Amino acid sequence: MTNKQTVIVTGGCGFIGANFVRLLIQSGAYNVVNLDALTYAANPLSLADLEGHPQYTFVKGNITDRALVASLFEKYQPAGIFHLAAESHVDRSIVNAEDFVQTNVVGTYTLLEAARAYWNSLPQERKETFRFLHVSTDEVFGSLGPDGWFTEETPYAPNSPYSASKAASDHFVRAFHHTYGLPAIITNCSNNYGPYQFPEKMIPLMILNAISGKPLPVYGDGSNVRDWLYVEDHCKAVKLAFEKGTPGEVYVIGGNNEQKNINLVHKICDILDEVAPPAEVPQLHQQGLKSYRELIRFVTDRPGHDKRYAINPAKIRRELGWQPEVGFEAGLRRTIDWYLHHPEWVDQVSSGAYGEWIKKNYAWREAKEAK
Ligand code: NAD
Ligand code: TYD
Repeated sequence: MTNKQTVIVTGGCGFIGANFVRLLIQSGAYNVVNLDALTYAANPLSLADLEGHPQYTFVKGNITDRALVASLFEKYQPAGIFHLAAESHVDRSIVNAEDFVQTNVVGTYTLLEAARAYWNSLPQERKETFRFLHVSTDEVFGSLGPDGWFTEETPYAPNSPYSASKAASDHFVRAFHHTYGLPAIITNCSNNYGPYQFPEKMIPLMILNAISGKPLPVYGDGSNVRDWLYVEDHCKAVKLAFEKGTPGEVYVIGGNNEQKNINLVHKICDILDEVAPPAEVPQLHQQGLKSYRELIRFVTDRPGHDKRYAINPAKIRRELGWQPEVGFEAGLRRTIDWYLHHPEWVDQVSSGAYGEWIKKNYAWREAKEAK
């Protein structure tokens, strides 16, 4: 450990967590203690290159383990905590919400109690600067009609077991600020995309299915709308909220980038048609595939599927000076490129068949790029 500010990050081996831990370390201002239980959603490869880094410590453990969490506060005396660990996939929560209640509700409560005990023990000047930064989602606000946006004032109306568990966690964070004065901040962000996202979520699932010649399952008629933000822009907003935000405040985060699901899938297919044309992919060529769009299939809708999410990020723009830096087309191209170039990462969280397939069928791409 170096003599920088030490912070705890929970869920650092997940999608946003891995991008976030990198951002903190690269900023040069923080030592990071990453507490992660390594569930199915974690990929140890995401941060493998940080092993042994003087600013990075990994602790395998569960946020519901009160003794462990308390011992980490005691040992590392952190300047704050970024809480990202969660069960995060709506479809899984529809099948069984038990883990969502445990991690998202009980786990958040456990962290809050440990943080409160630690915070109470701090000298006044460290008490004033301590922050509990709770990373949440716009899904707690429910579903929008064709018009309007979610803001910090939007009433909670969670519709899925996932969003209900996140809403409960937000309420506990709010209550710990209101009742005990714990300097907590909540951020509610829209859908993220980018490298290191587990391929059960829409964008990586579509990319990896497409390049493997598998069907692209679009729920319902594909008219549902999500407001997509490149993951690094979200991470920068969370860091800014921790450093400059006001305790007790909420900041909603989004990139003003609404996309209908079907249009997004078309975009992914069109970029892939350009950068990895099926005609040049041996097996897809043999299948007679001309465009990745031919793989699209409309499938049974998700039960209770929220129609539209959209964020008005005016407050974080105005008060903290945040703005997204990565445009959607550029971010999507970057993401597609990342998945094409990291078959070993994909293999780690799947059967191991993707890597072989990519090496066998997309090797021509590497040769072309090397020229
Ligand atoms: P993820 O599912 O990719 O990663 C979650 C991480 O938390 C994993 O590394 C997992 O091992 C860890 N974890 C799960 N249960 C744990 C437990 N009990 N103890 C310790 N670690 C545990 O999730 P993500 O997409 O990176 O989301 C991170 C946070 O951001 C979540 O709180 C989520 O609600 C929120 N969020 C996500 C999005 C999005 O689009 N992905 C958007 C807005 C907000
Ligand atoms: P997802 O990535 O699961 O995020 P969330 O449900 O948290 O918004 O899904 C994004 C959108 O894509 C959502 O409207 C559901 C839809 N979707 C599909 O159409 N097909 C799929 O296979 C998946 C995983 C999602």
